[in-house]
Amino acid sequence: MNNYKVAVIGGDGIGPEVLEEGIKTLRKVSELSGEFTFDFTYFPWGCEYYLKNGKMMDENALETLLEFDAIYLGAVGFPGVPDHISLWDLLLKIRKGFDQYINIRPVKLLKGAPCPIKDKTKKDIDMIVIRENSEGEYAGVGDRLFKGTKEEVVLQTGVFSRKGTERVIRYAYELAQREGKTLTSISKGNALNYSMVFWDEVFQEVGKDFPKVETASYLVDAAAMFFVNQPERFQVVVTSNLFGDILTDLGAAIAGGMGLAAGANVNPEGKFPSMFEPIHGSAPDIAGKGISNPLASIWSVSQMLDHLGHQDWGEKVLKAVENLLTEGKTLTPDLGGEATTGEVGNAIVKHLETI
Ligand code: NAD
Ligand code: IPM
Ligand code: MN
Repeated sequence: MNNYKVAVIGGDGIGPEVLEEGIKTLRKVSELSGEFTFDFTYFPWGCEYYLKNGKMMDENALETLLEFDAIYLGAVGFPGVPDHISLWDLLLKIRKGFDQYINIRPVKLLKGAPCPIKDKTKKDIDMIVIRENSEGEYAGVGDRLFKGTKEEVVLQTGVFSRKGTERVIRYAYELAQREGKTLTSISKGNALNYSMVFWDEVFQEVGKDFPKVETASYLVDAAAMFFVNQPERFQVVVTSNLFGDILTDLGAAIAGGMGLAAGANVNPEGKFPSMFEPIHGSAPDIAGKGISNPLASIWSVSQMLDHLGHQDWGEKVLKAVENLLTEGKTLTPDLGGEATTGEVGNAIVKHLETI
């Protein structure tokens, strides 16, 4: 029997509370399948840890995490610690340190999920966004000169390496080919005359190896419009780090809200553990009230199961989420209900028993 070691980093705000429901889900899946088990190890890293210890994680955090089969992350960031410190020293450190260069973010409108766009249904909003996750606009290259003076100059440089650009685009082509889907590249070559012109060239070049994949290429501003008024245009989407970040919040908005949007940070070679998380933040405005929606973190458990090779169980977890939404009885306030975070997790476990 396989026993998976999962590192749990709840982080800040609603992070730990939404993860508890995902863990409940995994325990149930393990029990129902009888094929594999999970060992959860909790790490207290985050903003509170920073305020006590002056660091977001242990110095040897990456070494410690290397031994795990998967990392399950809640959310990071809380008032009192500057966001660029908390995120760069934890979330981005893991994504970059473990070369999790693929960020898989499904934008799928499940049955029963609220959609703010008139007349759009499940068949119209069904895409998978592949976001570059290791460099680009998030390379962290820059400088701040003459700080605080009138001469101040700030540089934030995008870094698009051939290796980094090719590998994410190739991953997306392979996915589109495997699933018989179209592939859309989203960039901005008209204004970003170095990086995005290069991105578009690489998209064309790599495409030569995938002559059967139907492709489209949009500028990010137009793509944002199409996400809203013609989301059916998109199946597999590949885009840069920052564009992917922004577009997937827009994607969340059209597919049920932040409480339903999940993401997998994947190192495809399996050299390092991959990390699974809801894409929302720590939501300080509702933290500690027990009303956060755990469905995004439960969806990311479904992604974890897929990644570990248990796609059948990944699908069942997603089906449980869909059944809970269509039943419409146990929903948190963001979805118009009155249920608590824990009640939603308990209901998911019940639904799993009937699938
Ligand atoms: P946020 O996602 O935390 O919240 C945006 C809005 O969505 C809030 O009104 C919040 O209440 C709501 N919301 C988010 N998740 C929800 C859920 N599961 N259930 C119900 N409502 C939910 O984004 P923000 O306010 O811009 O950022 C808050 C903090 O989180 C900042 O410190 C930011 O840097 C950090 N952040 C972290 C991550 C991460 O760790 N992956 C992602 C985004 C933001
Ligand atoms: C996300 C988040 C992060 C990102 C932040 C918190 C650094 O917004 O995962 O979408 O921009 O990648
Ligand atoms: Mn984001």
